[in-house]
Amino acid sequence: MKNYSKIALSALFLSAAVFTSCSNDDETPAPVKASIYERLGGTKMVADPDNSGQMIEQGRLSFRKVVNSTIGLIVADIQSNASGNLQAHFAPLLAETGTTQATNIAKLSDNLTDFFSFNTGGTNAVNTYSGLSMAAAHNPATNPRMGTKSSNADYTKFEGYVGAAANANGVASNTELYTDIVAVLESLRTPIVQK
Ligand code: HEM
Repeated sequence: MKNYSKIALSALFLSAAVFTSCSNDDETPAPVKASIYERLGGTKMVADPDNSGQMIEQGRLSFRKVVNSTIGLIVADIQSNASGNLQAHFAPLLAETGTTQATNIAKLSDNLTDFFSFNTGGTNAVNTYSGLSMAAAHNPATNPRMGTKSSNADYTKFEGYVGAAANANGVASNTELYTDIVAVLESLRTPIVQK
């Protein structure tokens, strides 16, 4: 995890905590809001539906489901050539064929799951994110798996896919949890949008 996004996310959590603790006039401290990871199921161990015989934290499983739905929506729009699709960005990944493609999509899924889990309160070592910084990951010069730089419109499109994927996995748009997830996504717009 590189510096910029880590700082942005820490600032977000700090401000959320400060805001919560100052919101009372009386002497009773207000309860600190649970992390997004906790609200998505946290450290409760459940059977991993994709890996027979293995257990997984519910928080990580929730993120993995949202990440995989997001990737599915992006790929479906590319395949149907839907307006505004992200073909140019994901071309290097999708140009890979056969088992290689499965491996690389799986790697992206795993890295994204680590990234979101690690940065929203998932402290289990399995959630540790060790990939590129958000600026480097989204610049084709430093990450050849990224086809082209993203504009603000591309970013908003991507956020829409994550939102739809969250909806499809039980996080409704009119909830505080959804708003908090969108705030995390928005905190990363600056390093990721590079054109
Ligand atoms: C909240 C927004 C986003 C987050 C948190 C995010 C996160 C990530 C992460 C963690 C990686 C893996 C980096 C690595 O393996 O070292 C990645 C790679 C990538 N992202 Fe994003 N991303 C976001 C937005 C976008 C947008 C807007 C696009 C395109 C329009 C995009 C396209 C890609 C592509 C093509 C890769 C390369 C695949 C790879 O390296 O495995 N991402 N992103």
